[in-house]
Amino acid sequence: MSQMQPSQWLEWICSSKTLDELRDNYDQWASRYDADVSDVWSVVPTAGATMLAQHTPNKQHTVLDVGAGTGLAGVVLTSFGFQHLIGIDISPSMLKQAEAKGVYQSLVCCTIGDSEFGKIEPVESMIATGVFAKTHAGPTELTCLRAKLQPGGVLVFTARQSFLPVLQTTLEQPGWEQIDAKVLPIYDDPMHLLAYRANAN
Ligand SMILES: C[S@@+](CC[C@H](N)C(=O)[O-])C[C@H]1O[C@@H](n2cnc3c(N)ncnc32)[C@H](O)[C@@H]1O
Repeated sequence: MSQMQPSQWLEWICSSKTLDELRDNYDQWASRYDADVSDVWSVVPTAGATMLAQHTPNKQHTVLDVGAGTGLAGVVLTSFGFQHLIGIDISPSMLKQAEAKGVYQSLVCCTIGDSEFGKIEPVESMIATGVFAKTHAGPTELTCLRAKLQPGGVLVFTARQSFLPVLQTTLEQPGWEQIDAKVLPIYDDPMHLLAYRANAN
């Protein structure tokens, strides 16, 4: 597979029917991911990391990068002064690329909500760019992430406009407050970048 156009890689990844197939596809893609997404996608982890930095004045806070992939958000978070980054992902090959960037203190190969994920201590800040989408993660995973946030903690994540209704009921739960929103006009189906705070109940 040579360098793909954005429409091709989106179609290919979105054709994954199961999480195992999705993992295999990301494993295959890992070594070319950064080059393939440099024109269109890389603005998304950059904007996500920027939004998280704006809502996290204390850069000593630990950030959990969920679906860290090759570590694009981690690189930007490090440039803002964050030094305690944990990355998780289902794809070992994507994590290998992230490890090579040398910005994560810890990288864990796991699925949101599984037993390895359960061992991670609750964090103050979390980012998940490109993770809430078909076959990737939905309302159950969003609930898991919220439970992993310390009271007052912030989650920044993305979802395409067509996927937002799937998350709506979970986003409307009490004690969960939207604090920022931005629309990134990439793709015909715009990408929403959202920040939520988990308030103490
Ligand atoms: C579109 S990529 C985004 C990677 C990175 N966050 C970025 O913005 O470049 C989505 C990543 O999420 C991971 N992923 C998808 N579903 C997941 C899940 N349920 N649990 C953990 N990781 C997941 C994939 O393996 C992939 O690396």
